[in-house]
Amino acid sequence: MALLSLRFYPDEVLRKRCEPVTAFGPELARFVEDLFETMYAENGIGLASNQVGVSQRVLVMDVPSERPPGSKEPLVPNRRALINPEILSKTGQQSYDEGCLSFPTLSASVKRAQEVKVRFQRVDGAWEEATFTGLESVCFQHEHDHLEGITFVDYLSPLKRRLLLRDLRKFLSERGIEPAPANA
Ligand code: NI
Repeated sequence: MALLSLRFYPDEVLRKRCEPVTAFGPELARFVEDLFETMYAENGIGLASNQVGVSQRVLVMDVPSERPPGSKEPLVPNRRALINPEILSKTGQQSYDEGCLSFPTLSASVKRAQEVKVRFQRVDGAWEEATFTGLESVCFQHEHDHLEGITFVDYLSPLKRRLLLRDLRKFLSERGIEPAPANA
């Protein structure tokens, strides 16, 4: 397994629609394991393949199941790898304060569907359907957007986006990471 390098806004690969996966085999399985490892290392709950520079329709997520408030039970891991995911239907609405590994330190409230019904291929190529609700639904929609070349800041007002991206440029340039262009 290997840690993969994250791509940060405004990397072009984040703006491009990802291509369908057609080859299922050990190479894909290895890539998915690397995505999980990278996501866990960054304390993320979801990661899309173009966030590590691979423009293919692959996403991973691990949103632990919700526990009653104050519960001392350990979080149960909920690893999911979705290849070529498609949204079949959306219902309801919720707002959640989202972050993104490609926009370190930023967060903003985004309105999304409460529940999504999806189909996707597993790592072995078999098709499966699933229904996601709550935070897992938010996470899926956020990662699915990545595969479409859409990021969460696209949902913000121009003013809010400008203010957030100004903070991001400062953060990235302080760390010697290529900053976003001034007109972003
Ligand atoms: Ni993201």
